Amino acid sequence: MNIREFKDKAISGFSKLTKQEKIEWLISNVFENPREVIREFTEYWHKDETRQRVFDEISENTLTNFYLPYGVAPNFLINNKMYVVPMVIEESSVVAAAAKAAKFWLDKGGFSTQVLSTIKIGQVHFKWTGDGEALRAHMPVIKQSLRQAVKPLTENMEKRGGGLIDIELIDFTDTEEDLYQLRASFETCDSMGANFINSCLEEFGRNLPILLSDNERFLTGKGQCEVLMCILSNFTPESLVRAEVSCAVEDFGLVEGLPAEQFANRFAQAVRIAEIDPYRATTHNKGIFNGIDAVILATGNDFRAVEACGHAYASSSGRYSSLSHAEVSNGRFRFWLDFPMSVGTVGGLTKVHPLAKRSLELLGKPSAKELMQIVAAVGLAQNFGAVKALVTSGIQKGHMKMHLNNILANFEANAYEAERAKEYFLDKVVSFASVREFIQGIRAGAIKNFKA
Ligand code: MEV
Repeated sequence: MNIREFKDKAISGFSKLTKQEKIEWLISNVFENPREVIREFTEYWHKDETRQRVFDEISENTLTNFYLPYGVAPNFLINNKMYVVPMVIEESSVVAAAAKAAKFWLDKGGFSTQVLSTIKIGQVHFKWTGDGEALRAHMPVIKQSLRQAVKPLTENMEKRGGGLIDIELIDFTDTEEDLYQLRASFETCDSMGANFINSCLEEFGRNLPILLSDNERFLTGKGQCEVLMCILSNFTPESLVRAEVSCAVEDFGLVEGLPAEQFANRFAQAVRIAEIDPYRATTHNKGIFNGIDAVILATGNDFRAVEACGHAYASSSGRYSSLSHAEVSNGRFRFWLDFPMSVGTVGGLTKVHPLAKRSLELLGKPSAKELMQIVAAVGLAQNFGAVKALVTSGIQKGHMKMHLNNILANFEANAYEAERAKEYFLDKVVSFASVREFIQGIRAGAIKNFKA
């Protein structure tokens, strides 16, 4: 497409169109099969208009709803409390693997978890052309004034036990001329706190130049303060949770045909590989996120924030590495995960999305701290399930069973065809082509038999 054609397709005021008009515009400009498009887009609207409006208002330019499967993994014993964990994920095998790992650890004491800290960070990035020493020296007074300036915003949070903890001055002038940062730490209790933190930061941003222009009171000499941006950091290494499982090695018994000790050592070796090789670490951690993202989504939390934070944390040593660790020592196996995250159980989507609300109810209306622990336990369980499969039977065995279901759905197989396919593929390699051939065979046979 050349620039002219590209421009012909551009539209202004798209957001002002009604949903119907948006779909019509797409049909006349993009899609070629109007009937099917209209049918599909409208088929997934909620039948109740009021409920549909809830979804429409979560985002912008909404045309329809994009469904994802919502499943549960039962039998999660976490700190001696049983949970049925809601999981929203598109990948087959993930929920099954989480449920299997939860069951595996159920009679071995389950998961123990603890929140190590809950501090969140926000930053005001600014330029200061004046005396850096004087700025540093006056930080206690500046801090006091900024704290005062956000009092109306922090009051409520303080009543709930949170608020602004501290403000630190970070000097970047070694690497970037005149560049400084106010790094503020917050406790946001049961909310993820993004709005609260960003509002406080913007208030700091409004006040800082005024404070620094009052040179007589604060600083001697001349200087200009220019605030560049105020935003929370999604890297929250001090909002940290640990999840752990452990048992006597002999308690493993035979694992998929492997003796306990061999299994434990192979498992720990596999985790070690993820600690030293970023290529493996990425896949290993992806397995952890299979569980983490699914619970984060089901509870209406921000999975991009959790992902970004987790990956940054995995790179803390300077080289991307495994988020989980394992050891076999004195006849005991220990497997654990330290994971930083910022989640909420009040506010945001948790209040708006009806199924996010249900998920939290299913988990017993947890506090943010409790949710952090559940999420971490599921991440660890998912990782355990994946590595256990990898060092024993391989993952394709379990995957292919679920994969077969997906391919069968693709061919709109009926119950009879699906049953026959499951029997047939028990000991055969599943591929799109092999399933297609099988289904075509059944259908041809069925037609032949029917004709005969
Ligand atoms: C697949 O979604 C996740 C795994 O690749 C994770 C891993 O390799 O540890 C199975």
